[in-house]
Amino acid sequence: MSDDAGRHVRRKRYRGNHPRSFSEKYKERNPEAYRGDVEKVLARGDTPAGSHRSICVKEVLEALCPKPGEIVVDATLGYGGHARELLRAVLPGGRLFGFDLDSDELPRTARRLADAGIPEGAFVPVHANFSRLAEVVEDAGLAGVDLFLADLGVSSMQIDDPDRGFSFKRRGPLDMRMDREGGESARDYLARIGEGALCDILKANADESAAAEIARAVSLRRGALATTRDLAEAILSAFPSPSFKDPAMQRTLRRAFQAIRIEVNGEFASLDRLLADLPSCLKAGARAAILCFHSGEDRRVEAAFRSGLEAGLYASVAQEPIRASREEQYGNPRSTSAKLRWAVRSASPAIRSADAERSRNIHSA
Ligand SMILES: C[S@@+](CC[C@H](N)C(=O)[O-])C[C@H]1O[C@@H](n2cnc3c(N)ncnc32)[C@H](O)[C@@H]1O
Repeated sequence: MSDDAGRHVRRKRYRGNHPRSFSEKYKERNPEAYRGDVEKVLARGDTPAGSHRSICVKEVLEALCPKPGEIVVDATLGYGGHARELLRAVLPGGRLFGFDLDSDELPRTARRLADAGIPEGAFVPVHANFSRLAEVVEDAGLAGVDLFLADLGVSSMQIDDPDRGFSFKRRGPLDMRMDREGGESARDYLARIGEGALCDILKANADESAAAEIARAVSLRRGALATTRDLAEAILSAFPSPSFKDPAMQRTLRRAFQAIRIEVNGEFASLDRLLADLPSCLKAGARAAILCFHSGEDRRVEAAFRSGLEAGLYASVAQEPIRASREEQYGNPRSTSAKLRWAVRSASPAIRSADAERSRNIHSA
């Protein structure tokens, strides 16, 4: 087997007939060489380790209607599944700027797109927060882009890798940063914030009815939370006779981890900034689509698109969110919570600085 840089390395030995941990799943993590094994994983409705199944691809393409020669921003490149389809549709002549905060995954995805035959120069990797969209568009010398996509949240590669610390199901360092080149880890964040703030976060981001009890239990272990398992155990200790295997407890753990991840990465602040700047980065008639997996995200997108429509910045917006098809929901449970909204930029003149500020105010009002 080979590592990320293509060097030959001995495969890890594992006990039993099937690999269990992320590091042992060498076949799934090398899909080109083990196509048959990866097909079996997909047929079970699972996502092969180290990859990501793009959600609502058909619906995104229908909303964006990509055409040859168009300039695209994929604000959340991830594994590059949406980007690859968009690139194929805008070639020849088109270009895609792929943003991602994740400096571990971005080069892998760039290599994957090159291996898929995307010509050099058509794909432009951007290691930046999508909140910097306006700056990147301006620095690229563009008057605006034709198509915009954001598929919010984290990828399966990030969740599956125990070293990233996103999942309560995998023991690893309590990190949760999408960008490991900077910022505060979940461990440092939880050591810093008080019980009251954590309670507010669990209520606001997870709608957690036991927020006060969980915040108390986690605060009692503050400073001693080094791993995902430490945090999971602290959360469980808020309940009488909890069981890690109880599906209700697993839902609580998933929601609490997600609520903390949102804060560690400042996800809502980045989204607010993006939504405020988006109209100024779109050409007249340009189309934008945003896929959300959290009600806090969807509320923001709906409000921004609606206020943009009222202000004449958008010519039309989705009245209702588009959901994944029944087949997709059956085959990929992650898609069940997806909500896709789209907007079409009006022909009113492109707005810059002062106007962008006004649009920001409209949105935050
Ligand atoms: C759900 S995945 C995208 C999957 C992708 N559409 C695909 O088809 O593979 C979200 C990705 O967006 C990145 N991301 C999330 N928030 C971001 C932000 N504010 N700026 C840049 N990238 C972000 C994450 O690191 C992750 O790789």
